[in-house]
Amino acid sequence: MRPSTIAIDGPAASGKSTIGYHLSRYLAYLYLDTGVLYRAVTWAALDRHIAIEDEAAITELADNLHIDVVPPTEADGRQYTVSVEGRDVTWDIRTPEVDAAVSPVSAYPGVRAALTRRMREIAALGHVVMVGRDIGTVVIPDADMKLYVVASAEERAHRRQLEMQTHGEDVEYDEVLANLQRRDQIDSHRQTAPLKAAPDAIIFDNTDLTVEEMLTRAENLVDGVEC
Ligand code: DC
Repeated sequence: MRPSTIAIDGPAASGKSTIGYHLSRYLAYLYLDTGVLYRAVTWAALDRHIAIEDEAAITELADNLHIDVVPPTEADGRQYTVSVEGRDVTWDIRTPEVDAAVSPVSAYPGVRAALTRRMREIAALGHVVMVGRDIGTVVIPDADMKLYVVASAEERAHRRQLEMQTHGEDVEYDEVLANLQRRDQIDSHRQTAPLKAAPDAIIFDNTDLTVEEMLTRAENLVDGVEC
């Protein structure tokens, strides 16, 4: 039988969202990229000029902010539409400003508690592919299938640079690599729910795989053809 709840974790630009989105289409399941919730809170804090160091104010924001993640409302390459208090922020949450502030925001235990609660409500419905950093370890430890997606930092930096160039952003490879390594460091060493593989997760290293090969392997895993 195919897994009903699929938890996918891994570092930034490892390919976990590509795998998660593909599997959600393949299985006709709901897809939730949980990073967007942390990004939405971060975007709202910046928009309201709340200091990123103000843990109490940001936690209160996470507790009360109305965030919606729904199927795409525009055909502009998005995998979903994210809105905050009714405003479409799908692309606003991907700016370098949000990138720079999201790791500290996601390290606050109160923010994590508020967003984890929302993720669990969604996971309880089943037929879901949820992607993040702590899905298999904290959010849904009883998920039917857990993947921990990894690729070398250099390969991830190349992919991220290419992706940014596609969106018209001209960035140096060294800068992208340093930024990824800084986020890996914060995400893996924070006190609450650090990034790590669940003991029962399948380690999915795609450093040397093409996108095609990576997606075929993901399909084989959910179909039980490969383990
Ligand atoms: O996957 P992403 O780059 O959009 O995630 C943005 C940030 O959110 C990232 O720095 C780590 C954090 N995050 C988290 O701590 N836990 C999750 N389940 C998802 C994301």
